[in-house]
Amino acid sequence: MKKSKRIKKSNSWKIKQHRDQFFKRSKTLGYRSRASFKLIELNKKYQFIKSNTNLLDVGSSPGGWAQVAAKIIKTGKIMSVDIKDMEPLKNIKFLKGNIMEEDTKYVIKRYFDNNLDVIVSDMAADTTGNKSLDSIRTNQLCANLINFSKDILKPKGVLVSKLFMGEDFIEVKNMAKSLYKKVNFFKPESSRKESKETYLHCEILKTL
Ligand SMILES: C[S@@+](CC[C@H](N)C(=O)[O-])C[C@H]1O[C@@H](n2cnc3c(N)ncnc32)[C@H](O)[C@@H]1O
Repeated sequence: MKKSKRIKKSNSWKIKQHRDQFFKRSKTLGYRSRASFKLIELNKKYQFIKSNTNLLDVGSSPGGWAQVAAKIIKTGKIMSVDIKDMEPLKNIKFLKGNIMEEDTKYVIKRYFDNNLDVIVSDMAADTTGNKSLDSIRTNQLCANLINFSKDILKPKGVLVSKLFMGEDFIEVKNMAKSLYKKVNFFKPESSRKESKETYLHCEILKTL
């Protein structure tokens, strides 16, 4: 076998192993998706979800992140939003809607009534096969959410969102920096190494 073919084969084996490892763990622990581990890792690093947190979970379906949040939150409110359906979960208010649309934003605003502590988003645009375009489309969702977050979060609130290290990464990062005092990035172990996915962590709005 040629060297390049051997390297390709060993890389795809590593990717499969990585996927299987988190897939098996998610099944054992009863999580709906492997993505759950990403929120567990993010919260271990930044500790933004507490027992009394009011939390908005955007791009929530099938519900892995919502399950993680619901295990920690005891007295706070949780709303999950997705354009796709999501099977019901105890203590989670699910809203089927597009976060880019004003109607959806209006319902969210009313639900939290100026009392929202944390927004988490694992939103990703549907894939087209063109990685560069997919990354731009997902980063546009992230940029739109950053803008919306300033209207609904408490001044000391936290926003955590998926984004891709693509061509418009710096633009989105600068937008976050113009609105928040602290902006960091973290790529969880459970996120595939070969993926350009990372997570943005912002806290304390500059209006404070
Ligand atoms: C990677 S999945 C989320 C997985 C989820 N965090 C979990 O743990 O189960 C990304 C989700 O983003 C949703 N999404 C994409 N664009 C959206 C939009 N404009 N508004 C709301 N949800 C959106 C998709 O429907 C999809 O379910």
